[in-house]
Amino acid sequence: MKTTTTHHMDALLKTETIANLKLEPLHLAMLLIVPLILLLGLVSRIRGRPPHPPGPKGLPIIGNMLMMDQLTHRGLANIAKQYGGIFHLRMGFLHMVAISDAEAARQVLQVQDNIFSNRPATIAISYLTYDRADMAFAHYGPFWRQMRKLCVMKLFSRKRAESWQSVRDEVDTVVRTVAANTGKPVNIGELVFNLTKNIIYRAAFGSSSQEGQDEFIGILQEFSKLFGAFNIADFIPYLGGIDPQGLNKRLVKARGALDSFIDKIVDEHLMKKKNKSQAVGGCGDGDEETDMVDELLAFYSEEAQVNESDDLQNSIKLTKDNIKAIIMDVMFGGTETVASAIEWAMAELIRSPEDLKRAQTELAEIVGLDRRVEEPDFDKLTYLKCAIKETLRLHPPIPLLLHETAEDATVNGYFIPKKSRVMINAWAIGRDKNCWEEPEAFKPARFLKPGVPDFKGSNFEFIPFGSGRRSCPGMQLGLYALDLAVAHLLHCFTWELPDGMKPSEMDMSDVFGLTAPLANRLVAVPTKRVVCPLF
Ligand code: HEM
Repeated sequence: MKTTTTHHMDALLKTETIANLKLEPLHLAMLLIVPLILLLGLVSRIRGRPPHPPGPKGLPIIGNMLMMDQLTHRGLANIAKQYGGIFHLRMGFLHMVAISDAEAARQVLQVQDNIFSNRPATIAISYLTYDRADMAFAHYGPFWRQMRKLCVMKLFSRKRAESWQSVRDEVDTVVRTVAANTGKPVNIGELVFNLTKNIIYRAAFGSSSQEGQDEFIGILQEFSKLFGAFNIADFIPYLGGIDPQGLNKRLVKARGALDSFIDKIVDEHLMKKKNKSQAVGGCGDGDEETDMVDELLAFYSEEAQVNESDDLQNSIKLTKDNIKAIIMDVMFGGTETVASAIEWAMAELIRSPEDLKRAQTELAEIVGLDRRVEEPDFDKLTYLKCAIKETLRLHPPIPLLLHETAEDATVNGYFIPKKSRVMINAWAIGRDKNCWEEPEAFKPARFLKPGVPDFKGSNFEFIPFGSGRRSCPGMQLGLYALDLAVAHLLHCFTWELPDGMKPSEMDMSDVFGLTAPLANRLVAVPTKRVVCPLF
């Protein structure tokens, strides 16, 4: 009763105020003038600031959303031909900026990296990463910094010998599989995608969890589809409730599946840790093989915690959600990237018989056909390294680096608003004719010349691993797997295309997703090349 009265009073008061305004011309004038002043202020601010980068004109509200299918490395490179190395698109309410030249990339990844080091995340990504509880999608800040320190020191470090061992063991399994199929067509693509999944699965969960692998791969595939699914609510937030494709239900189901899968593994690891510390009176013997879950559990706590201490153990505590989200980072960061690079390297070499011959001759001279390649040989395999660099230039496994601005910025005299999505087209930059001679051709020998750019991150014309704060923390492990797999496949076997196909007839088209692998898997026929027994 009281509420009804209050509403009544409110309504009455409103009528009275409006009536009063009608009576007082000064109030009326104020009512018109104040918004006008505000509007003029806004217009002059917009006028005073630099323009957005150039770009195709969009429609009201939806902006350039009809160009959605062009947001691939190739599509953006084509638009850049018309608008230049930095251009702007508006997708609904979202500003997007595409960078396709090395100097603009240096501006955002080095000169102004404090503004450009956030990550954009769609609704699906935020949900599937437990609200950015991971490293790859965490915004730049104290949490990300400590998380990155932890990952670099504990997960990706060369000191974690088990990861490197799993690369060697799984490459051996591949050689064994190929050896058992000499003279027959072998699907190299399938083989190397399985290889990297096995390496990362084993590095993450240890060899004891092997039986759940198929279930986990299924979960990964659904995550991957959901990451890539178009969701109108990402661009026009008011339409969030509609969800015509039923994405929200799929998201809940996918994260639920991951929860039950990894929770079980985490619980088993916790139990193992407890049993071990009881058995040895509170201190581990240190000899037992540890996996990434073990490493992360050393930081486990019911409640997340971060501070800027230099001592890692005191600076960060991880919840189960953090652990699950980091494991997904490693799975996504480390499988398709390495596999697509191995497949592209093999495809480019098979398509270029002279380069293939040169790389294999080098292997025969340096290693000899009477033994397998070993780690100390790698430094001397110059041409092989050049072929791998050339592969990463033409086919950077992550063709578009996705960043987001933390505040308003100006690059090359153009205004880029806060929270813009910035897509750095590493693929287009690696093929820029202003930086590379015959940029579309596969020519490993270009890397023999002195002064040629390197991919470690300070030459912005060649950034397959990114550069700066958000660059790839798994580069060493990734390169190790890439070098080892390609070296073994080339040294142990010769490769012919099936059914008399000529190298020039190979289909080298790619598909776009998080990575850009060959559209059609590479198939070739191996013959044993070394004279020593393979096993
Ligand atoms: C040939 C192999 C690989 C390539 C070419 C590659 C490339 C990249 C690129 C381009 C980025 C983004 C850089 C940026 O946004 O500026 C990245 C980030 C990342 N990569 Fe890799 N990667 C490879 C292997 C790996 C491996 C083996 C792992 C893990 C085991 C890994 C884990 C990650 C993670 C976690 C991030 C996110 C880092 C952050 O946001 O702070 N990558 N990688």
